[in-house]
Amino acid sequence: MRAGFGSAALVCLAALTGAHSAQAASESIKPGVDYHSFANVADFRVRHVDIDLVVDFSARRLSGHADLTVARQNPNARQLILDTEALEIASVSWLKPGAEPAKLEFRGGKAKPILGQPLQIEMPAAAGRRDVVLRIEYHTNPKASGLQWLLPAQTAGKKHPYLFSQNESIHGRSWIPLQDSPQVRFTYNAAIHVPSNLIAVMSAAQKGADAKPDEAGHKVYRFEMKEAIPSYLIALAVGDLRFHEISARTGVYTEPAVLDAAAYEFADLERTVATCETLFGPYRWGRYDLLILPPSAPYGGMENPRLSFITPTVIAGDRSLVSVIAHELAHSWSGNLVTNATWRDFWLNEGFTTYLERRIVEVLYGQRREQMEDALGLQTVRREMADLAPADQHLAIDARGRDPDDTGTEVAYEKGKLFLQFLESRFGREALDAFLRSYFDHFAFQSIDTEQFLDYLHAHLLVKKPGAVSEQEIHTWVYEPGLPGFAVLPPADVFAPVDKARNAWLAGTMPTAQLPVKQWSTQEWLHFLDNMPDEVPRARLEELDHAFALSGSTNAEIAHSWFRVAIHNDYAPAYPQLERYLVTIGRRKLVKPLYEDLMKSPRGAELARSVYAKARAGYHPITQTSIDAIVTPRR
Ligand code: BES
Ligand code: ZN
Repeated sequence: MRAGFGSAALVCLAALTGAHSAQAASESIKPGVDYHSFANVADFRVRHVDIDLVVDFSARRLSGHADLTVARQNPNARQLILDTEALEIASVSWLKPGAEPAKLEFRGGKAKPILGQPLQIEMPAAAGRRDVVLRIEYHTNPKASGLQWLLPAQTAGKKHPYLFSQNESIHGRSWIPLQDSPQVRFTYNAAIHVPSNLIAVMSAAQKGADAKPDEAGHKVYRFEMKEAIPSYLIALAVGDLRFHEISARTGVYTEPAVLDAAAYEFADLERTVATCETLFGPYRWGRYDLLILPPSAPYGGMENPRLSFITPTVIAGDRSLVSVIAHELAHSWSGNLVTNATWRDFWLNEGFTTYLERRIVEVLYGQRREQMEDALGLQTVRREMADLAPADQHLAIDARGRDPDDTGTEVAYEKGKLFLQFLESRFGREALDAFLRSYFDHFAFQSIDTEQFLDYLHAHLLVKKPGAVSEQEIHTWVYEPGLPGFAVLPPADVFAPVDKARNAWLAGTMPTAQLPVKQWSTQEWLHFLDNMPDEVPRARLEELDHAFALSGSTNAEIAHSWFRVAIHNDYAPAYPQLERYLVTIGRRKLVKPLYEDLMKSPRGAELARSVYAKARAGYHPITQTSIDAIVTPRR
């Protein structure tokens, strides 16, 4: 058993004090156990995956095979259990070296909500302890939760269809039969067959397209990922894509119509990589490119290795939202190099990454910008925490029985970030940076749980300055709700001038035309709008809207904050633009609060239902699932 903070007693106590589900109360959670996978990882481990898939836009289906190289961990194990979700499995065979493929027996086990269905495969006994290569022939379901199939009308160019994947948290299983757990790491190769006028990209090195088309006339793109990654980092996109080089190792892929805007917005990409390297050690993945997705992308960004997937809502025209890029890049250290072993440990990915992100922002865009982003982050986590059960305010959370897409809250991001900030304040920046570099080195290409991190923290940082932090303080951060009273918060006055302006404006002592908006950054606008009182007279909203064209703002974050004010006050002139926004943008973080706000009043609910009826088909399955739970049909 591991020593240190990871004692079962601590974890059990944490689970009991904040128990929020029957399961948590009845059986204490076991650190390191992935409750979101059927895979029997102690018996077998997938080491390598080789996929060969045809992309069929008209059937909305991927079909082909996955070859899995499987290592037997337990000599007595006979059955391999993989994760699947809505996959049609045609056959499973053993690719025996120097022999004909041998068919293996397989069956689908009992499906479970959220998790999908186990695929049980009878493994060949004859193979003994040697690695076995299995070929699984299959095709995906048009409703696969990890894929979004876009019609030409949903793209910027309007001429070609588009496909992209989003595997995190547990959607990889909807397009590849896998041990879909972040604690299983493997290398992968892929051959992707696409219509000859489209381009395929993946989170892997490009090996180019075959000189000749396949029998069906498809172009075949090949990829290779030589580093062992978890399944949630496999990623694929297919569309009418162009590339703009930013430096020898960085660049951006988009549809042709978006290329110039993206090239401008992300011009700092090489400097961002170089900054992160200076702070936290070498970038270990070769290239770093961005793929700018269509606006239906469910997340702001997704840290797919070598190729982050990014929402186009980051393109504000003034580079003011590029902290998302710093964030996704930072995952190349925290998350992709050192990975959360289970979704309970999600804060190891996101809290560390948010800390790294702010450090990069500070170097590239200055301390004031960094402090503003900290302050906005603090406001969001405080607001979100007010509605969370106490146990969900811990850093290490009990996600059993729930969709991990829903349990990852601002707590993991901002409270996680504040925990590292606290360590920085007690040990000094230099010591913390050295610790982080050694941590990334030590656990490189491994998946770890919260307690493994805490043990390492104890041995390599806390011992350096005995008494600088107490075990109780660490325990409070990780296993207790709320923000500790001893947290180190961003300076309270970064937004003081904005607060002053808002108050004067609300009091009527500052006319709208005199608001000092000329000097305001996006972050100042967000703070101005996010802290409006519950009720603002309609005439004042009209003035604001007319003076600054807020309803038509092309900055997706500012528009979002404005629409929330408009909805709270039932300011109907904003609704046509609100509708357009909700129909085009599918980023969950931007649309979900708007639907929630609308559903709070009968008139708003009416609008939410009619807009969602138009918008739903264009949303990603992940966004659909979230909004389905909010916008209930009229009874
Ligand atoms: N890894 C996350 C996205 C994610 C989280 C996907 C949980 C599935 C489940 C990504 O790095 C992220 O955090 N994106 C943020 C942007 C970031 C700047 C906070 C987002 O999507 O808003
Ligand atoms: Zn992240």
